[in-house]
Amino acid sequence: MTHVFKKPTRVAIVGAGNVGATFAYSLLISGLASEIVLIDANHAKAEGEAMDLNHAMPLGRPARIWAGSYEDTAGAVITVITAGSAQRPGETRLDLVQRNTEIFKQIIPKIVENNPNGILLIATNPVDILTYVAFKISGFRRNHVIGSGTVLDTARFRYLLSQHFDVDPRSVHAHIIGEHGDSEVPVWSLANIAGMRLPQYCAVNELGCADETLNTIFEQTRDAAYHIIERKGATYYGIASGLVRICEAIIRDQGTVLSVSSYIDEPYYGIEDVCLSLPTIVDLDGVERIIRLDLNEEEVIGLQKSANLLKNIISQLKI
Ligand code: LAC
Repeated sequence: MTHVFKKPTRVAIVGAGNVGATFAYSLLISGLASEIVLIDANHAKAEGEAMDLNHAMPLGRPARIWAGSYEDTAGAVITVITAGSAQRPGETRLDLVQRNTEIFKQIIPKIVENNPNGILLIATNPVDILTYVAFKISGFRRNHVIGSGTVLDTARFRYLLSQHFDVDPRSVHAHIIGEHGDSEVPVWSLANIAGMRLPQYCAVNELGCADETLNTIFEQTRDAAYHIIERKGATYYGIASGLVRICEAIIRDQGTVLSVSSYIDEPYYGIEDVCLSLPTIVDLDGVERIIRLDLNEEEVIGLQKSANLLKNIISQLKI
């Protein structure tokens, strides 16, 4: 029997596929969780992943890792849901909506029954729609239902900008908002390096900032998953790292600004009753507050288009 922690920090992971298993590994090496339980319809897969992860224990950080059932979500600070069909080459994330909604109608009630007070963190695509589905089915307060949203897109955007400007990606501050998908919106007007918005940074430092170059960077951000899936069949390192970062902000009560997806319950540029991504303060109680942004007209129009696309799909769902 491995060590039973006196005050465990349990994270439950529903879905032990590429994303779930990679997230479990990333979470183990982060040291954030003392208990990690993997739940999958294919229990043998979850068992295999847990066995493999346990063998890393002597070489890294202690934790209790096992393949479990929905009863094991009890007491979890966060239940991360990665279960569902993933995009195949040529598919958009939205092609997965009804298949994965049906899966959520099965799994969310089982989690709620065992863990009515934990936080749900959704990664399954289309993540904004499924965050909405999880919010509606669970009956949880809105701050306890979080989607990974455009956390990954924002990371891709910051990375690609950092390559163009030859600076550390952590020194580039920029957000992607709206749908985690083809209608996502780059907030160019607020992007900054060293406290200077990009046009000023480029002018003062005599750097090229041609619109065409910046537009290409956004297109590479938006379309990254398609290009990765074409080459390796799936994406998992980026999303797993985004999930760990969100879990860190919650478990460590950091109050970090992350572009997670959550339910918009107050009008935001006329948008409400939908889940999409906006810079949000994330802490021990989940979504602390969505930050009001001073967007320009083009960005507002883009965000409203993204919201309307998501609301149209939600209106056709059988939840
Ligand atoms: C991607 C998946 C997580 O963007 O939607 O890589």
